[in-house]
Amino acid sequence: MEYRRLGNTGLEISTIGLGTNNFGGRSDFDESKAVLNQCLESGVNFLDTANAYSAGKSEEIIGEVISKGGHRQDMIIATKVGLNVAGGPPGTPPAKPNMGGASRLHIMEQVEQSLRRLQTDYIDVYYMHRWDPNTPIEETVRALDDLVHQGKVRYIGASNYTAWQLAEAIHTSRNQGLYEFSCLQVEYSMLVRDVEAEAVPFSEKYNVGVIPFFPLAGGFLTGKYSQGVDPAEGTRFAKTPMFKDRYMSDKNWDVLGKVGSFAGERGHSTAELAFAWLLANPTIPSVIAGATKPEQVVANAKATEWKLTADEVAGVTALLG
Ligand SMILES: NC(=O)c1ccc[n+]([C@@H]2O[C@H](COP(=O)([O-])OP(=O)(O)OC[C@H]3O[C@@H](n4cnc5c(N)ncnc54)[C@H](OP(=O)(O)O)[C@@H]3O)[C@@H](O)[C@H]2O)c1
Repeated sequence: MEYRRLGNTGLEISTIGLGTNNFGGRSDFDESKAVLNQCLESGVNFLDTANAYSAGKSEEIIGEVISKGGHRQDMIIATKVGLNVAGGPPGTPPAKPNMGGASRLHIMEQVEQSLRRLQTDYIDVYYMHRWDPNTPIEETVRALDDLVHQGKVRYIGASNYTAWQLAEAIHTSRNQGLYEFSCLQVEYSMLVRDVEAEAVPFSEKYNVGVIPFFPLAGGFLTGKYSQGVDPAEGTRFAKTPMFKDRYMSDKNWDVLGKVGSFAGERGHSTAELAFAWLLANPTIPSVIAGATKPEQVVANAKATEWKLTADEVAGVTALLG
């Protein structure tokens, strides 16, 4: 496994991380535990969760297996705050006041709940899950700075921020002498590249680590789905039909065919290319991929062995349209 520094920090994280939004939902405790144990075995040390994943169950499973299991020092745990935790679907306004968003009150209350569920006294990376237009950014970054000073949080990050929102946050921190965001988590893959316009160049300039989520487009970029064939039972696309609508377009099938051939001709899988293409950018210290089985962790960890040349990166990018 290869390790890189997170943005402007000294923190070393594995280039393949593990996303855990399936824990406690699509994956039960035993399935999640098997995946976590494989991460320990494969050197995957960067875990991504959130207070809102499976209503806190994802954090609880990590707490039980990693912290209670005596592996806390082996793992870098990133979690998030900011989504509605009042039970409504993500993106809907909280059913009760102060049950989501980026206010000092909500952050201070939720960090305690995450620490309790994770069975730890510190969070390595604490993200704001999304921009909150109703809370002044200074209130948010001051609350996060306080948590770093209190030792409850080691590093802070932003998730789903646009470039201007990240610029506003970082300059507010700098003007006030506060800890600033070290990473930006965004959707980024060979199929979804909007962030290349502004967020990625901004992050490169400011030495913010870009952490792509959905690097495999939910599994589409593994090549395990075929056009015109229903997704096999038990797969992500069968269990969450929204993914079908999101990724199974004619254009994406065409790109999948081309990048699949590119990888195959070089003795690699499409999934390996999906990771290697992202990791060719040094602004990206880690990609967080979900996994439902230990074998997927093994396969994904192996992808770090493939380093694309500049010509190969250009060749792949030209195929993406
Ligand atoms: N910040 C945010 O707003 C945000 C939003 C979404 C996600 N995230 C984070 O990003 C993480 C990753 O997202 P994701 O898991 O939804 O998407 P993903 O990494 O693009 O896809 C993961 C899925 O692909 C399949 N897979 C993985 N490795 C495989 C392999 N080697 N061979 C075959 N299939 C493989 C598995 O699906 P099967 O079920 O088919 O086995 C797995 O659940 C999440 O867990 C979460 O931590 C963050």
